[in-house]
Amino acid sequence: MKSNDNHIYVIFGASGDLTKRKLVPALYSLFVQNLLPEKFTLLGVSRSQFSDAEFKIAMESAISEFKEIDDTTRIPEFIAKIHYQSIGFDDVSTYLLLKQRLEALRVENEISGNTVFYMSTPPSLYGIIPQHLASVGLNAQDDGWKRLIIEKPFGYDLESALILKDQLLKDWQEEQLFRIDHYLGKETVQNLMVTRFSNGIFEPLWNRNYIDHVEITSAESIGVEKRGGYYESSGALRDMVQNHLLQVAAITAMESPSSLEPVAIRNEILKVFQSLRPIKREDVKTNAIRGQYLSSTIKDEHIAGYREEEGVHPESVTETYAAIKFYIDNWRWGGVPFYIRSGKRLPTRVTEVVIHFKPTPHFLFSSGSVCSSCNQLVIRIQPDEGVLLKFGMKTPGAGFDVQNVNMDFHYSDLSHQRMPSAYERLIYDSMKGDATLFARTQEVIEAWKFLAPVIDCWKNDREVPLYGYPAGSWGPESADDLIENKEMTWRYPCKNLSDDGIYCEL
Ligand code: BG6
Repeated sequence: MKSNDNHIYVIFGASGDLTKRKLVPALYSLFVQNLLPEKFTLLGVSRSQFSDAEFKIAMESAISEFKEIDDTTRIPEFIAKIHYQSIGFDDVSTYLLLKQRLEALRVENEISGNTVFYMSTPPSLYGIIPQHLASVGLNAQDDGWKRLIIEKPFGYDLESALILKDQLLKDWQEEQLFRIDHYLGKETVQNLMVTRFSNGIFEPLWNRNYIDHVEITSAESIGVEKRGGYYESSGALRDMVQNHLLQVAAITAMESPSSLEPVAIRNEILKVFQSLRPIKREDVKTNAIRGQYLSSTIKDEHIAGYREEEGVHPESVTETYAAIKFYIDNWRWGGVPFYIRSGKRLPTRVTEVVIHFKPTPHFLFSSGSVCSSCNQLVIRIQPDEGVLLKFGMKTPGAGFDVQNVNMDFHYSDLSHQRMPSAYERLIYDSMKGDATLFARTQEVIEAWKFLAPVIDCWKNDREVPLYGYPAGSWGPESADDLIENKEMTWRYPCKNLSDDGIYCEL
């Protein structure tokens, strides 16, 4: 990093879970790799009353507990750079205190006005904190750059996202805003672009002529754990689909950018969002399926249903599973269905993009069904990151029986190469001012606009079913009916039960 990138990193919500689990361990990892600027200070800010010493102790144990990097020898050196300031988030007078504290730290550490403000707070504060920062001049860039990083969710629906957008853009410029979508920081999501645009063999096939449909699956075996309160106001559609998975879909579908400049890449991503075919209200029932997990017994263990979870209303109608079918109306994708499904308490944890290719025009060989040898390119985002190509091979012996075989690349084969966490990558980019992997305001608004009919119907139309599915199953069976091509199904990447706490092996 250049020496003029020296800066203070301010985390609002410093006493929260994200700070200790992800942000501070990622910052320490950058420090160990000498990727932080020479002069760097971290200021934790929240409502809780901590002394600097108490906060340092808490962060020291967080770095050891949620380890991002093996080398722990430099923890004391890093901890010396950490400070803490308590403020009342909605009390404007305390922002003057914050300003004074920042000035004192700058003088002490010889750092210019460069500052990152990371909003790791409840979303209800996303409007108010930036507004108060601006009211004491902490958005002004005359003495150095100021950047605002905002965690998801950006709004609750289209209307609230538009209000938040106006609130932020009143005092901040779009270039100062970095909307984190941690999926964009995942190595394998970025690799989607490399797979597509660095290989001559895939790109010619990447269109409506050869692709039957595109599937994006994100399954989690855990339930909502202690986040019932948050999840009740969110649900699978807002929590995963509106942001992470539509972003993944956009990268899968985008045109090649003219360069790697952030604006070139983000323009192509935005075009995909703008080409999403609006879902008509009357089609919601057939194009979007929702479900909620029910209690079940897995390996003699009772698994609570969603309505029994802490913080969840006993008659909650919040979906823990969402599947949608949609189209991207442009030349490349005209008529190709895209499917996204995401759910909690499914049989395993897996996120993957599956390109289902069309079958051959005429099938010569004997086989179970036409598509038992259909080609699939599986881009495994997590876990066991990698790329898998499935294709048909002759079964040895008499006749011409065809079986499906795999060409399988695993990132773990690159054993000498460390995979940085998504937060590590995104924090580093935000320090460099590289916004490529951050969602632009307009993308977020387009995504809300696209999902608005589904959100509205699921909220107001009692005729739209909320299917129950037993914890540990693949979700409502009706989601299978979404797939148009009856020769094909969702990919069910695992079959066998395993002993290690996830329900099935990949
Ligand atoms: C978060 C959601 O954004 O992403 C969580 O709020 C979800 O509900 C998580 O569990 C999944 O992230 P990852 O990186 O574990 O796939």
